Amino acid sequence: MQEVLKKKSGENRALAPRESRKTIGNINVQNPRMVCRNVNVFYDEKQAIRNVSIDIGRNEVLAMIGPSGCGKSTFLRCLNRMNDTIDSCHVTGEILFDGKNIYDASVDVVPLRAQIGMVFQKPNPFPKSIYENVAWAPKIHGIVESKSDADEIVESSLQKAGLWEEVKDRLDQPGTGLSGGQQQRLCIARAIAVSPEVILMDEPCSALDPIATAKIEDLIEELRTQYTIAIVTHSMQQASRVSQRTAFFHLGDLIEVGSTETIFTKPSHQLTEDYITGRYG
Ligand SMILES: Nc1ncnc2c1ncn2[C@@H]1O[C@H](COP(=O)(O)OP(=O)(O)OP(=O)(O)O)[C@@H](O)[C@H]1O
Ligand SMILES: [Mg+2]
Repeated sequence: MQEVLKKKSGENRALAPRESRKTIGNINVQNPRMVCRNVNVFYDEKQAIRNVSIDIGRNEVLAMIGPSGCGKSTFLRCLNRMNDTIDSCHVTGEILFDGKNIYDASVDVVPLRAQIGMVFQKPNPFPKSIYENVAWAPKIHGIVESKSDADEIVESSLQKAGLWEEVKDRLDQPGTGLSGGQQQRLCIARAIAVSPEVILMDEPCSALDPIATAKIEDLIEELRTQYTIAIVTHSMQQASRVSQRTAFFHLGDLIEVGSTETIFTKPSHQLTEDYITGRYG
């Protein structure tokens, strides 16, 4: 026990609190969909996100980049309270979604996570049929009542996810039997099926080959017309292809945010430049 306590206090010293670094660039957008202000995230005493403030615009794709461990996934998970599922994690600050703080005690996280959906790094279809993967959530949330409503939502969601033609003749087969890229599009169809406002994506293409990646990237471009998207990616090319704004994180701080073009061609901060030119990462 003493050993554990000693180790813990040693860790705490190593991770002594420090001031957050000021973000360079314009954190604001006109008519934001999400507004994050002074967001801090801790795992027990260890701070993973420091005082991050940023807006996320409507119909925009925001890319989040930065070296491994800088807090991208942690910050993304704050945006739909997915961090609530981690016991040691606590969040301070404000995250407003259409003006309302999603951390208010009155907010029910189940509908919140339908409105702000998430797609993970590793495709994670349910062990059910392709049809049920898409129809399940709309049924649970009371969006569909009849079989024909469900059929319609399954078809339109799979259409939007660019998967319909490939699976329309085998909807009763297991979702887990699809290829990796198809499974990821199935997961996107599942997120879309409940008519979300925002889609959060955590390295959605990292397990996919270039052809499957290109399909997902095309899809992101199409989805932007209807949804707000925040995407974490390790690929600079992907960030520059799919996003309009880019946020660069480093050791828990939001170092720089700006238009994707500016971040990749004329970054202001030395750390951003070092990262995008591959000097570390
Ligand atoms: N569940 C957890 N419990 C404790 N610490 C965590 C947990 N998840 C993340 N961390 C810590 O928080 C910090 C940020 O991690 P996070 O996973 O958000 O980084 P990331 O930028 O997404 O990295 P990567 O690019 O490798 O996915 C790291 O120091 C990590 O060890
Ligand atoms: Mg991550």
